[in-house]
Amino acid sequence: MRIRVPTVILSLVVASAVYAAPVTPNPSHLEKRGWAADQLEKLFTKAISTLECGACVAALVGAKDIAYLNKNWVLSAVTGLCKQFKIMPEDVCTGLVYSQGPVLINAVMQANLLSGDGKIICHQILGACPAQGVTSGALSFPKPKPVNIQPPTHSGNLIDVLHLSDWHVDNEYVVGAEGDCNRPLCCRKYADSPLNPKRPASTWGDYKCDSPIKLGVDLLKFVPKVANISFSILTGDVPPHDIWLQTKESVVIVEEIAYNTMQEGLATKVYPTVGNHETGPV
Ligand SMILES: *[C@@H]1O[C@H](CO)[C@@H](O)[C@H](O)[C@H]1NC(C)=O
Ligand SMILES: *[C@@H]1O[C@H](CO)[C@@H](O)[C@H](O)[C@H]1NC(C)=O
Repeated sequence: MRIRVPTVILSLVVASAVYAAPVTPNPSHLEKRGWAADQLEKLFTKAISTLECGACVAALVGAKDIAYLNKNWVLSAVTGLCKQFKIMPEDVCTGLVYSQGPVLINAVMQANLLSGDGKIICHQILGACPAQGVTSGALSFPKPKPVNIQPPTHSGNLIDVLHLSDWHVDNEYVVGAEGDCNRPLCCRKYADSPLNPKRPASTWGDYKCDSPIKLGVDLLKFVPKVANISFSILTGDVPPHDIWLQTKESVVIVEEIAYNTMQEGLATKVYPTVGNHETGPV
Protein backbone atom coordinates (compact mmCIF):
# COMPACT_ATOMS: atom_id res chain seq x y z
CA MET A 1 0.00 0.00 0.00
CA ARG A 2 1.33 3.45 -0.86
CA ILE A 3 1.34 5.86 2.02
CA ARG A 4 0.71 9.48 1.29
CA VAL A 5 2.89 11.11 3.91
CA PRO A 6 1.85 14.70 3.04
CA THR A 7 -1.79 13.78 3.69
CA VAL A 8 -0.88 12.23 7.00
CA ILE A 9 1.05 15.30 8.03
CA LEU A 10 -1.69 17.62 6.88
CA SER A 11 -4.38 15.86 8.84
CA LEU A 12 -2.15 15.69 11.91
CA VAL A 13 -1.36 19.36 11.63
CA VAL A 14 -5.00 20.29 11.20
CA ALA A 15 -6.04 18.04 14.07
CA SER A 16 -3.15 19.14 16.27
CA ALA A 17 -3.63 22.82 15.54
CA VAL A 18 -7.22 22.64 16.67
CA TYR A 19 -6.98 20.17 19.50
CA ALA A 20 -3.38 20.03 20.72
CA ALA A 21 -0.26 22.13 21.03
CA PRO A 22 0.97 23.61 17.70
CA VAL A 23 3.55 21.49 15.90
CA THR A 24 5.97 21.96 13.04
CA PRO A 25 6.29 18.51 11.54
CA ASN A 26 9.22 17.40 9.48
CA PRO A 27 8.70 14.31 7.28
CA SER A 28 12.02 12.78 8.33
CA HIS A 29 10.71 12.53 11.89
CA LEU A 30 8.08 10.09 10.68
CA GLU A 31 10.78 7.45 10.29
CA LYS A 32 10.80 7.16 14.05
CA ARG A 33 8.00 6.08 16.34
CA GLY A 34 8.55 9.04 18.64
CA TRP A 35 7.14 11.99 16.74
CA ALA A 36 4.01 10.34 15.36
CA ALA A 37 3.10 8.56 18.60
CA ASP A 38 3.69 11.73 20.62
CA GLN A 39 1.26 13.67 18.42
CA LEU A 40 -1.24 10.86 18.76
CA GLU A 41 -0.86 10.79 22.53
CA LYS A 42 -1.58 14.53 22.63
CA LEU A 43 -4.72 14.05 20.53
CA PHE A 44 -5.92 11.18 22.72
CA THR A 45 -5.10 13.09 25.92
CA LYS A 46 -7.18 16.02 24.67
CA ALA A 47 -10.06 13.69 23.78
CA ILE A 48 -10.00 11.89 27.14
CA SER A 49 -9.59 15.03 29.24
CA THR A 50 -12.24 17.13 27.43
CA LEU A 51 -14.60 14.32 26.36
CA GLU A 52 -15.39 16.61 23.43
CA CYS A 53 -16.89 15.05 20.31
CA GLY A 54 -14.63 16.93 17.87
CA ALA A 55 -11.50 16.16 19.90
CA CYS A 56 -12.40 12.48 19.97
CA VAL A 57 -13.02 12.28 16.21
CA ALA A 58 -9.74 14.17 15.60
CA ALA A 59 -7.90 11.60 17.73
CA LEU A 60 -9.41 8.77 15.68
CA VAL A 61 -8.39 10.51 12.45
CA GLY A 62 -4.84 10.83 13.81
CA ALA A 63 -4.85 7.15 14.86
CA LYS A 64 -6.04 6.07 11.42
CA ASP A 65 -3.38 8.10 9.64
CA ILE A 66 -0.60 6.83 11.87
CA ALA A 67 -1.88 3.25 11.53
CA TYR A 68 -1.15 3.52 7.80
CA LEU A 69 2.48 4.29 8.69
CA ASN A 70 2.87 1.66 11.42
CA LYS A 71 0.10 0.08 13.52
CA ASN A 72 2.58 -0.57 16.34
CA TRP A 73 2.89 3.16 16.92
CA VAL A 74 -0.84 3.41 17.59
CA LEU A 75 -0.74 0.43 19.95
CA SER A 76 2.25 1.92 21.73
CA ALA A 77 0.56 5.34 22.10
CA VAL A 78 -2.67 3.84 23.44
CA THR A 79 -0.77 1.62 25.89
CA GLY A 80 1.15 4.68 27.10
CA LEU A 81 -2.09 6.60 27.71
CA CYS A 82 -3.73 3.68 29.51
CA LYS A 83 -0.76 3.56 31.89
CA GLN A 84 -0.46 7.35 32.23
CA PHE A 85 -4.15 7.83 33.07
CA LYS A 86 -4.02 4.71 35.28
CA ILE A 87 -7.12 3.44 33.48
CA MET A 88 -6.09 -0.10 34.40
CA PRO A 89 -3.06 -1.84 35.96
CA GLU A 90 -0.07 -1.78 33.60
CA ASP A 91 -0.13 -5.49 32.72
CA VAL A 92 -3.84 -5.19 31.81
CA CYS A 93 -3.13 -2.10 29.65
CA THR A 94 -0.43 -3.84 27.65
CA GLY A 95 -2.24 -7.17 27.29
CA LEU A 96 -5.56 -5.60 26.35
CA VAL A 97 -4.17 -3.14 23.80
CA TYR A 98 -1.92 -5.66 22.07
CA SER A 99 -4.51 -8.49 21.96
CA GLN A 100 -7.72 -6.56 21.19
CA GLY A 101 -6.16 -3.45 19.59
CA PRO A 102 -5.11 -4.74 16.15
CA VAL A 103 -8.70 -5.70 15.25
CA LEU A 104 -10.01 -2.32 16.40
CA ILE A 105 -7.32 -0.53 14.39
CA ASN A 106 -8.39 -2.44 11.27
CA ALA A 107 -11.97 -1.35 11.90
CA VAL A 108 -10.91 2.29 12.32
CA MET A 109 -8.84 2.08 9.11
CA GLN A 110 -11.96 1.01 7.20
CA ALA A 111 -14.24 3.57 8.81
CA ASN A 112 -15.39 6.81 7.18
CA LEU A 113 -14.50 8.78 10.27
CA LEU A 114 -15.61 12.19 9.02
CA SER A 115 -18.85 10.85 7.50
CA GLY A 116 -20.44 9.76 10.75
CA ASP A 117 -18.46 6.63 11.70
CA GLY A 118 -16.17 8.70 13.93
CA LYS A 119 -19.13 10.03 15.92
CA ILE A 120 -20.58 6.54 16.32
CA ILE A 121 -17.26 5.18 17.61
CA CYS A 122 -16.77 8.18 19.94
CA HIS A 123 -20.29 7.74 21.31
CA GLN A 124 -19.60 4.08 22.00
CA ILE A 125 -16.12 4.30 23.54
CA LEU A 126 -16.10 7.64 25.36
CA GLY A 127 -19.67 8.90 25.25
CA ALA A 128 -18.03 11.99 23.74
CA CYS A 129 -20.50 12.38 20.84
CA PRO A 130 -24.30 12.18 20.98
CA ALA A 131 -25.92 8.91 19.90
CA GLN A 132 -26.30 8.84 16.13
CA GLY A 133 -29.65 7.98 14.59
CA VAL A 134 -30.16 4.60 12.99
CA THR A 135 -29.87 4.88 9.23
CA SER A 136 -32.57 3.00 7.36
CA GLY A 137 -31.78 0.57 4.62
CA ALA A 138 -33.24 -2.36 2.72
CA LEU A 139 -32.22 -5.81 3.85
CA SER A 140 -32.58 -8.55 1.25
CA PHE A 141 -33.14 -12.11 2.38
CA PRO A 142 -32.01 -15.12 0.30
CA LYS A 143 -35.60 -16.20 -0.32
CA PRO A 144 -39.05 -14.71 0.28
CA LYS A 145 -41.05 -15.38 3.43
CA PRO A 146 -43.11 -18.59 3.07
CA VAL A 147 -46.89 -18.14 2.76
CA ASN A 148 -49.59 -19.94 4.75
CA ILE A 149 -47.28 -21.33 7.42
CA GLN A 150 -48.97 -23.88 9.68
CA PRO A 151 -47.32 -24.09 13.10
CA PRO A 152 -47.20 -27.73 14.30
CA THR A 153 -49.89 -28.62 16.82
CA HIS A 154 -48.51 -29.37 20.26
CA SER A 155 -49.09 -32.69 22.01
CA GLY A 156 -49.74 -31.06 25.35
CA ASN A 157 -46.85 -32.96 26.94
CA LEU A 158 -44.40 -30.67 28.69
CA ILE A 159 -40.69 -31.41 28.77
CA ASP A 160 -37.81 -29.92 30.75
CA VAL A 161 -34.96 -28.27 28.82
CA LEU A 162 -31.76 -27.07 30.46
CA HIS A 163 -30.47 -23.79 29.03
CA LEU A 164 -26.86 -22.97 29.93
CA SER A 165 -25.47 -19.62 28.87
CA ASP A 166 -22.54 -17.32 29.61
CA TRP A 167 -20.90 -19.90 31.79
CA HIS A 168 -17.53 -18.06 31.75
CA VAL A 169 -15.59 -20.85 33.41
CA ASP A 170 -12.46 -19.65 35.19
CA ASN A 171 -10.03 -22.53 35.52
CA GLU A 172 -7.67 -20.21 37.43
CA TYR A 173 -10.26 -19.31 40.08
CA VAL A 174 -8.73 -19.59 43.55
CA VAL A 175 -11.02 -19.92 46.57
CA GLY A 176 -9.92 -17.31 49.12
CA ALA A 177 -8.16 -15.06 46.56
CA GLU A 178 -9.07 -11.34 46.46
CA GLY A 179 -12.68 -10.99 45.29
CA ASP A 180 -12.55 -7.19 45.11
CA CYS A 181 -9.47 -6.44 42.99
CA ASN A 182 -8.48 -3.67 40.54
CA ARG A 183 -8.45 -5.89 37.42
CA PRO A 184 -11.39 -6.72 35.12
CA LEU A 185 -11.48 -10.24 36.63
CA CYS A 186 -10.88 -11.06 40.31
CA CYS A 187 -10.66 -14.25 42.41
CA ARG A 188 -7.29 -15.13 40.87
CA LYS A 189 -3.79 -15.03 42.33
CA TYR A 190 -1.99 -12.19 40.54
CA ALA A 191 1.64 -11.25 41.11
CA ASP A 192 0.59 -8.28 43.27
CA SER A 193 -2.43 -9.86 45.00
CA PRO A 194 -2.65 -8.99 48.71
CA LEU A 195 -1.78 -11.65 51.26
CA ASN A 196 -4.90 -10.81 53.26
CA PRO A 197 -7.80 -10.26 50.83
CA LYS A 198 -10.50 -7.67 51.62
CA ARG A 199 -13.15 -10.05 50.30
CA PRO A 200 -11.97 -13.67 50.00
CA ALA A 201 -13.46 -15.49 46.98
CA SER A 202 -16.18 -17.94 47.98
CA THR A 203 -16.37 -21.59 46.92
CA TRP A 204 -19.06 -21.06 44.25
CA GLY A 205 -18.15 -17.64 42.90
CA ASP A 206 -18.07 -13.93 43.63
CA TYR A 207 -19.46 -10.72 42.14
CA LYS A 208 -16.36 -9.51 40.25
CA CYS A 209 -15.33 -13.01 39.21
CA ASP A 210 -16.17 -15.70 36.70
CA SER A 211 -17.41 -19.20 37.54
CA PRO A 212 -15.17 -21.63 39.38
CA ILE A 213 -15.19 -25.12 37.83
CA LYS A 214 -16.92 -26.43 40.97
CA LEU A 215 -19.94 -24.21 40.29
CA GLY A 216 -20.68 -25.99 36.99
CA VAL A 217 -19.99 -29.46 38.38
CA ASP A 218 -22.26 -28.94 41.40
CA LEU A 219 -24.97 -27.23 39.35
CA LEU A 220 -25.22 -30.27 37.07
CA LYS A 221 -25.45 -32.55 40.13
CA PHE A 222 -28.35 -30.48 41.45
CA VAL A 223 -30.38 -30.21 38.23
CA PRO A 224 -31.86 -33.79 38.33
CA LYS A 225 -33.35 -32.98 41.76
CA VAL A 226 -35.56 -30.32 40.20
CA ALA A 227 -36.05 -31.36 36.57
CA ASN A 228 -36.10 -34.33 34.19
CA ILE A 229 -34.15 -32.89 31.31
CA SER A 230 -34.96 -34.03 27.77
CA PHE A 231 -32.05 -32.10 26.25
CA SER A 232 -29.84 -29.07 26.92
CA ILE A 233 -28.86 -26.00 24.95
CA LEU A 234 -25.64 -24.09 25.51
CA THR A 235 -25.72 -20.57 24.06
CA GLY A 236 -22.04 -19.72 24.19
CA ASP A 237 -19.50 -17.75 26.18
CA VAL A 238 -17.64 -20.50 27.99
CA PRO A 239 -14.25 -18.70 28.34
CA PRO A 240 -13.46 -16.33 31.22
CA HIS A 241 -13.19 -12.53 30.96
CA ASP A 242 -9.37 -12.55 31.16
CA ILE A 243 -9.33 -10.88 27.77
CA TRP A 244 -5.97 -9.20 28.37
CA LEU A 245 -4.29 -12.59 28.87
CA GLN A 246 -6.31 -14.77 26.53
CA THR A 247 -4.75 -16.94 23.82
CA LYS A 248 -6.16 -19.55 21.47
CA GLU A 249 -4.64 -22.22 23.75
CA SER A 250 -6.20 -20.80 26.93
CA VAL A 251 -9.62 -20.70 25.24
CA VAL A 252 -9.30 -24.31 24.04
CA ILE A 253 -8.40 -25.44 27.59
CA VAL A 254 -11.54 -23.97 29.22
CA GLU A 255 -13.76 -25.19 26.37
CA GLU A 256 -12.48 -28.72 27.04
CA ILE A 257 -13.06 -28.36 30.77
CA ALA A 258 -16.64 -27.16 30.19
CA TYR A 259 -17.49 -29.86 27.63
CA ASN A 260 -15.98 -32.61 29.87
CA THR A 261 -18.05 -31.25 32.78
CA MET A 262 -21.20 -31.53 30.65
CA GLN A 263 -20.29 -35.01 29.41
CA GLU A 264 -19.84 -36.25 32.96
CA GLY A 265 -22.76 -34.37 34.49
CA LEU A 266 -25.48 -34.63 31.83
CA ALA A 267 -27.10 -37.80 30.52
CA THR A 268 -28.81 -36.03 27.61
CA LYS A 269 -27.71 -34.31 24.43
CA VAL A 270 -26.36 -30.76 24.43
CA TYR A 271 -26.97 -28.48 21.44
CA PRO A 272 -24.28 -25.76 21.54
CA THR A 273 -23.74 -22.46 19.75
CA VAL A 274 -20.69 -20.20 19.95
CA GLY A 275 -20.69 -16.80 21.64
CA ASN A 276 -18.42 -13.82 21.07
CA HIS A 277 -16.06 -15.06 23.78
CA GLU A 278 -15.35 -18.31 21.93
CA THR A 279 -13.16 -16.26 19.61
CA GLY A 280 -9.93 -14.50 20.43
CA PRO A 281 -9.72 -11.55 20.32
CA VAL A 282 -13.25 -11.18 21.67
C1 LIG B 1 6.85 -0.44 13.27
O1 LIG B 1 7.26 -0.01 14.55
C2 LIG B 1 7.89 -0.99 15.33
C3 LIG B 1 8.09 -0.39 16.72
O2 LIG B 1 8.56 0.91 16.66
C4 LIG B 1 9.16 -1.43 14.64
O3 LIG B 1 9.79 -2.43 15.41
C5 LIG B 1 8.81 -1.98 13.27
O4 LIG B 1 10.00 -2.33 12.56
C6 LIG B 1 8.03 -0.96 12.47
N1 LIG B 1 7.55 -1.57 11.25
C7 LIG B 1 7.69 -1.00 10.06
C8 LIG B 1 7.11 -1.75 8.90
O5 LIG B 1 8.25 0.07 9.91
C1 LIG C 1 -38.54 -37.33 36.91
O1 LIG C 1 -39.34 -38.32 36.36
C2 LIG C 1 -39.56 -39.44 37.23
C3 LIG C 1 -40.32 -40.51 36.46
O2 LIG C 1 -41.46 -39.95 35.85
C4 LIG C 1 -40.28 -38.98 38.49
O3 LIG C 1 -40.43 -40.04 39.38
C5 LIG C 1 -39.46 -37.88 39.15
O4 LIG C 1 -40.16 -37.34 40.24
C6 LIG C 1 -39.14 -36.75 38.19
N1 LIG C 1 -38.26 -35.81 38.82
C7 LIG C 1 -38.49 -34.48 38.81
C8 LIG C 1 -37.48 -33.67 39.54
O5 LIG C 1 -39.44 -33.98 38.26
